[in-house]
Amino acid sequence: MSETSGAGAAPAAALPADHPIHRLGDSLYMRAARCRRTEQVPVWFQRQAGRSLPEYRALRGSGSILDAIADPATAAEITLQPVRRYGVDAAVLFSDIVVPAAAVGFGVDVVPGVGPVAGNPLRSRNDLDRLPELDAEVHTPYVLDTVRLLAAELDVPLVGFAGAPFTVASYLVEGAPSRQHLRTKSLMYADTALWHDLMERLASIAVASMRSQVLAGASAVQLFDSWAGTLSPADYAEFVAPHSKRVFDELADLGVPRAHFGVGTGELLDQMAEVGADVVGVDWRVPLEAARGRVGPGVALQGNLDPALCVAGWDAVRPAADRILAAGTQEPGYIFNLGHGVLPETDPAVLERLTDYVHAYRRPLPKQPDIQPD
Ligand code: CP3
Repeated sequence: MSETSGAGAAPAAALPADHPIHRLGDSLYMRAARCRRTEQVPVWFQRQAGRSLPEYRALRGSGSILDAIADPATAAEITLQPVRRYGVDAAVLFSDIVVPAAAVGFGVDVVPGVGPVAGNPLRSRNDLDRLPELDAEVHTPYVLDTVRLLAAELDVPLVGFAGAPFTVASYLVEGAPSRQHLRTKSLMYADTALWHDLMERLASIAVASMRSQVLAGASAVQLFDSWAGTLSPADYAEFVAPHSKRVFDELADLGVPRAHFGVGTGELLDQMAEVGADVVGVDWRVPLEAARGRVGPGVALQGNLDPALCVAGWDAVRPAADRILAAGTQEPGYIFNLGHGVLPETDPAVLERLTDYVHAYRRPLPKQPDIQPD
């Protein structure tokens, strides 16, 4: 695929003239996401805005994270904190994957130390009534106000995001974080018609949410399908891929890079690219060389340092970062990141040093063949 083909490289004609993408289109993140060569490797960290930062804990207090998200000044400041501290090449909007479902009235909260909890989980067709279409200007105006504040402030791209239909469904059906996703899978296998209707609702919500974030000033989007790795490739193809594909298709005209991430998705990476992603996130279980072969040409890779290494400290991080940088930079289209989110126990000094280290990295020149003197 050439550098200018693919929806991720479209000229962003659908976006207003004052959209940040017009001044940030040549930034490191944007070029790497479009598989163009970069002089430095761009780096950001999933969950960079969060509990590992003392300034986050100070600002956040102890209420529900949904209250912090609903306050644009607070949410914008939390988004900016890691950008200032680390000098990363992208900001990720401070929000959560259950915000749209909560905003349309499903009845879900994010409990500190636990995660998303729904008191009345989705178990029957009637429960779909609690998932109407998302009108972002009506249901989540605070998210758009946060994005607008950030668009005026940031000099790196803002990555907007949504939860993928499968991962959001897993929270709404289970009612709480779960390891095996048994109720979710049971619904999927036992009531296929309801499953697909649920996935359609959640796909529409993801599209509406991400479109609105981009129109308000986000320059890229990431679809988080964190728990898709719990599915076999055949089940992913049947029950998930068509819906995630629709999400990517319905964002294509915006011309912004579209990233797709999940954990334990080594066997799904080909499909996660095929549904329309411009960037595929890789966790630490899959070497980047192998991931490259699975996603095919023209798709950028993002990842894949084990977040546990950052808790272990710099001496553990450095050799692993060296290996990842060498593998990632074998071809254009590479963004350094963790294989999942920053863990709360992480010392921010390690991420600060890692950011500088990635920026200082230069790919060794290929060995020249020895020229024998006559
Ligand atoms: O820095 C960022 O990445 C931006 C903000 C962000 C949050 N959640 C804020 C948050 C993003 C991108 C998310 C996405 C998200 N939320 C995902 C996908 C990414 C992933 O990690 O796989 C998922 C699965 C969720 C659901 C969720 N929200 C969980 C599992 C938890 C953890 C619960 C806990 O307290 O340990 C949350 C809460 C949450 N979302 C926190 C943050 C900063 C931490 C809790 C808090 O500060 O109250």
